[in-house]
Amino acid sequence: MRKNIILKAPAKVNLTLDVKGKRSDGYHELETVMHQVNLLDIIRISQGTGGIQIKSNSSLIPTNEENLAYQAAEMILGEYAHKEGVEIYIEKNIPVGAGLAGGSTDAAAVIQGINQLCDLGLEEEELLEMAARIGSDVAFCLAGGSKLARGRGEILSNLPQRMIPYIILVKPHFQLSTAEVYRELDLTQVEEFPDNVAFLAAWEAYDIINIAGNMRNVLETVSIRKYPEIAAIKAELIRTGALNALMSGSGPSVMGIFMEEEQALKAREQFRTRYQEVFLLSSYVSTKSEE
Ligand code: C5P
Repeated sequence: MRKNIILKAPAKVNLTLDVKGKRSDGYHELETVMHQVNLLDIIRISQGTGGIQIKSNSSLIPTNEENLAYQAAEMILGEYAHKEGVEIYIEKNIPVGAGLAGGSTDAAAVIQGINQLCDLGLEEEELLEMAARIGSDVAFCLAGGSKLARGRGEILSNLPQRMIPYIILVKPHFQLSTAEVYRELDLTQVEEFPDNVAFLAAWEAYDIINIAGNMRNVLETVSIRKYPEIAAIKAELIRTGALNALMSGSGPSVMGIFMEEEQALKAREQFRTRYQEVFLLSSYVSTKSEE
């Protein structure tokens, strides 16, 4: 058994997000394109003396069993290595409560990390199954890259890797509860649904203009009604030269896709005068050998 392991845990954005209906289990049936970006939490897992301990540089996340990373450690250790203990350090860089799957990606990294650290030898399929039990986005975070996700978000189809070079991400000063946004969703109020067939054709063709042009998220209906500022950020991103702008997940983070680095840098400067969490990102390309 190794003594410790360090993993990168990338954020995700939803380039489209469609809700097909409400399910009998209370969740919503989704069809969403998820894409990892190079905004990374860093997770260090060390052999502990017993139990699970979580520490973080951020005071915004819980360090007890409310943390998805704790739940992930408890699940995998409980099922496969109940005598082991772990210490988990979360270097939090991904904004919290932002629609970027920050908690889910930490949990996915913990599942992968403990599998390696404790030499459990579990196959990807078993890891994905555990991930899906932790939360709807965790399986995607474990699989990584770009995926079309269905079901609760855990049924994943591979998409070809495409590099979006300039993404400006703005996180407003408030947080949104995913459960609350879904609860308030009324599909009869949605004006524009994504056309995932058109989006995927543009993705296949690596046609950035139509990739951006087909970005839609039905959850904006709820989040923008609560916080019109989200719509104002979208409009401003487009005014500063973005091909298009969209809220990620249940929000409130907003991303703008840019063709030119210079425009993206200018937009970043402009937003930084008013927002603390503004990032110039690109697609995350996994370098597993580094992990
Ligand atoms: O699965 P997870 O715990 O991340 O989801 C958070 C909340 O978001 C759920 O409790 C549920 O209210 C809502 N949700 C949903 N349909 C989905 C995913 C999440 O209604 N497909």
